[in-house]
Amino acid sequence: MKLATVILAAGFGTRMRSELPKVLHPVAGRPMVEWAVCLGEAVSQLPPIVVVGHGKERVQALLGQRVEYAVQSELLGTGHAVRQAEHLLRGKADAVLVIYADTSLLQVATIQNLITLFENNHTQPDFAMAMLTVVRDDAQGFGRVIRNAAGEIQEIIEEVDCTPEQKAITELNPGIYCFDNEWLWDNLSKIPLSKKGEYYLTDMVGIATAQNRKVATTLAPLEEVNGINTRVHLALAEQVIRRRINEKHMLAGVTLIDPETTYIEDTVEIGSDTTVLPGCLLQGNTRIGANSQIGPHSQIIDSEIGNYCRITYSVMEKARLEDHCEIGPFGRLRPGAHLAEGVHMGNFGEVKNSYLGPGTKMGHFSYIGDTHIEATANIGAGTITCNYDGQKKSKTVIGKDVFIGSDTLLVAPVTLGDHAMTGAGSVVTKDVPANTLVYGVPARQANRNDATLASDSPNVDVTHDE
Ligand code: UD1
Ligand code: MG
Repeated sequence: MKLATVILAAGFGTRMRSELPKVLHPVAGRPMVEWAVCLGEAVSQLPPIVVVGHGKERVQALLGQRVEYAVQSELLGTGHAVRQAEHLLRGKADAVLVIYADTSLLQVATIQNLITLFENNHTQPDFAMAMLTVVRDDAQGFGRVIRNAAGEIQEIIEEVDCTPEQKAITELNPGIYCFDNEWLWDNLSKIPLSKKGEYYLTDMVGIATAQNRKVATTLAPLEEVNGINTRVHLALAEQVIRRRINEKHMLAGVTLIDPETTYIEDTVEIGSDTTVLPGCLLQGNTRIGANSQIGPHSQIIDSEIGNYCRITYSVMEKARLEDHCEIGPFGRLRPGAHLAEGVHMGNFGEVKNSYLGPGTKMGHFSYIGDTHIEATANIGAGTITCNYDGQKKSKTVIGKDVFIGSDTLLVAPVTLGDHAMTGAGSVVTKDVPANTLVYGVPARQANRNDATLASDSPNVDVTHDE
């Protein structure tokens, strides 16, 4: 069966009270409309058709070529929205699945159920459509499902148009339908204008039954069909998706000490035997290896973390840690920070756009920006790379086994050769040759024999900068 998907995403989303179009509000890190697109992609080979209107440029900028678009230039309701896709679909599919972009909790299995129901009935000549319904005491403004004495669905009445008796009905319309393609396009124009001045897609049920056509229904799981209309709904949806994501990771071998306070976006990957402590946010395009420990209270955005790493009370964005790295407490890795294997970065360190070679130790209070450190350097407490002169950024290069004394300022551009050393409080304004000790302000070479220095300190014990 050739199934097309239409996603309605043109509405104002007035109840969100937001500058941002409702369908672009993120749910667990992913814009609402993208959840719907993922569903469409999971159940059909054809690219989903997204009906855009309010904020259409922003929705299109997000989804790009991934979907096709139909434009609703006047927002005249959900029925009117679907009509905008007619020219793309008439004669081109057997069935049309319509979902609203504000139903982010829907799962593929539920849509599959609906499609199966449709397929089981589709061969009957008088069949028009299949839809999900849900039974819930709290109606939350949903349309009510009206059935006749024989229990057959007759129509859907929007809450604003309900009589008090109809209002008490607990079977509701979650807004997920599968229509016979030709029947849909032949009948959409028959929807009458509502009192509210809109064309309700929900009227298609009444139109079908008036033609003695069959409408098949099946119940949807309650949790999956909460439409997101306000920020209260948004927070509830977030909670459900977060729980699902956390359970997926736990079942795959990740320990979450307190899932309630662990926020992992859908896009994040975590290796087994990694433990995430309370209060962590793992976001965007983040990949974490196995046997690592993250948190407590850390935020990792778009970053890559290897195996056996430990991150405590720290923030990382667009940064990379190879295996066996240790960050924090209170470390900050900004975009372009790359820490090679076994790097230790202690409290109050900040690294931006820099490579810290294997085994580098940076225990306390340092800023390293636009810097390349070859390997096993010891960065003394309070070291600052002065990478910005007010006009331009410059680079610092630090060789192998360099020992930077506490409180050194490295005024970039500057290069320190292998095994160089700086005294505490130095302000280094000129390159330092290999095997050379400099000290003072501005830093100058110590009156010492280079050869002696080299033999004195080839193995500066970088772990003992306490
Ligand atoms: C709709 C249903 C209601 C159902 C509920 C379930 C109708 C008339 N009502 O109400 O029966 O219980 O969803 O969540 O369908 N949209 C457009 N163009 C428009 C209007 C809306 O594209 O002109 C889009 C919106 O962006 C949104 C979706 O359609 O994604 C649903 O619109 P919304 O205003 O949220 O409808 P509800 O009042 O929730
Ligand atoms: Mg809604």
